[in-house]
Amino acid sequence: MTDGSTPGFTTNAIHSGYEPDSLYGPINTPIYASTTFAQDGLAELRGGYEYTRVGNPTVTALEKTVAALEGADFAVAYASGMAAVDTVLRILLKPGDHIVVSNDAYGGTYRLIQQIFTQWGVENTVVDMTNADEVAAAVQDNTKAIWVETPTNPMLDIVDIAAIAAVKGDAKLVVDNTFASPYLQKPFDFGADVVLHSTTKYIGGHSDVVGGVVCGKHELIDAFEENLRFFFGWVGPIPSPFDTYLTARGLKTLAVRMDRHCDNAEAVARYLDAQPQVARVCYPGLESHPGHEVAKRQMTRFGGMVSVLFNTTEQAKAFCKSTKLFCLAESLGGVESLVEHPATMTHVSVAGSALEVPGELVRISVGIEDEADLIADLEQALAQI
Ligand SMILES: Cc1ncc(COP(=O)(O)O)c(C=O)c1O
Repeated sequence: MTDGSTPGFTTNAIHSGYEPDSLYGPINTPIYASTTFAQDGLAELRGGYEYTRVGNPTVTALEKTVAALEGADFAVAYASGMAAVDTVLRILLKPGDHIVVSNDAYGGTYRLIQQIFTQWGVENTVVDMTNADEVAAAVQDNTKAIWVETPTNPMLDIVDIAAIAAVKGDAKLVVDNTFASPYLQKPFDFGADVVLHSTTKYIGGHSDVVGGVVCGKHELIDAFEENLRFFFGWVGPIPSPFDTYLTARGLKTLAVRMDRHCDNAEAVARYLDAQPQVARVCYPGLESHPGHEVAKRQMTRFGGMVSVLFNTTEQAKAFCKSTKLFCLAESLGGVESLVEHPATMTHVSVAGSALEVPGELVRISVGIEDEADLIADLEQALAQI
């Protein structure tokens, strides 16, 4: 909400980062499909752009919008969430350093830390991030980063960002804000040093484009923006102007979509919670969720993701095969409802590790369809298991 003295969230989502240009006044950021930019003379760049691997005006506009929404000084956009994750890890960690990671996190992030970064001499400790004492005990002199997701993927645990910030010592606190989106949660307000997103999810919102973004504040990490942009220019994980356009277009409606995602997810969680086939519903909006009070403090609403533990793995798999409107597919955060079995799909890469997820678990990304249709589909699927 805003009193009109400063732009509100949705106004920023629609207007910040771009002004119609003086030539034709296009309302939307043009797709600058150009690899290179004419220069007015030696070392005289027009508007600061030289080569798209290093920077492109379509990408800059998206970065400015996301920075405004996260309350960051700057944002740097990437071709995927994982490119964003990888870059942050490479900037914060050197051989001999240590990172503390959550026992519930996106499998791809942990795979990168465990299978690639350990090869370069970076150690990790896996902790229950919902327990700040456990995090404090894991922090060592060489701990340079603490990696937080909240709500976590896929168990939807809630991590108290301020509590982790209080015990982080000299380490940098990175919050992957993908599941909440900046509309529901602003990690910088609670002590995060870095905020990142897979924009593939809620920010893009239409399951049609992969991307990522990293947000920072100048006073929190020395030369962080410069380092992000060095990697960007030297390695090349920049999103294409076409992809960026789609992400920016989706971002304009983030607030209205999120409100509808939250309405529907609340209804789905309460419905499933009352069904006998369901052992437990993990949704931070339920009063029974262990993180409910923290979520109330740090989020404006509880999000569009619902995870469900069935009594058996067979029931979980049967449920995934029985929904019709909820499409069986990986990913999340799009307008359409999806269902997936993390143990054999998104989190198969962490099987056998400290991050292994139970076979009884089903993760649901609740879309923005009509609530009655969603509940009817769940009802017919439950009747089949
Ligand atoms: C929480 C979280 N972070 C990062 C990623 C990686 O993002 P991307 O698939 O855009 O590379 C994902 C992907 O599912 C995710 O769920």
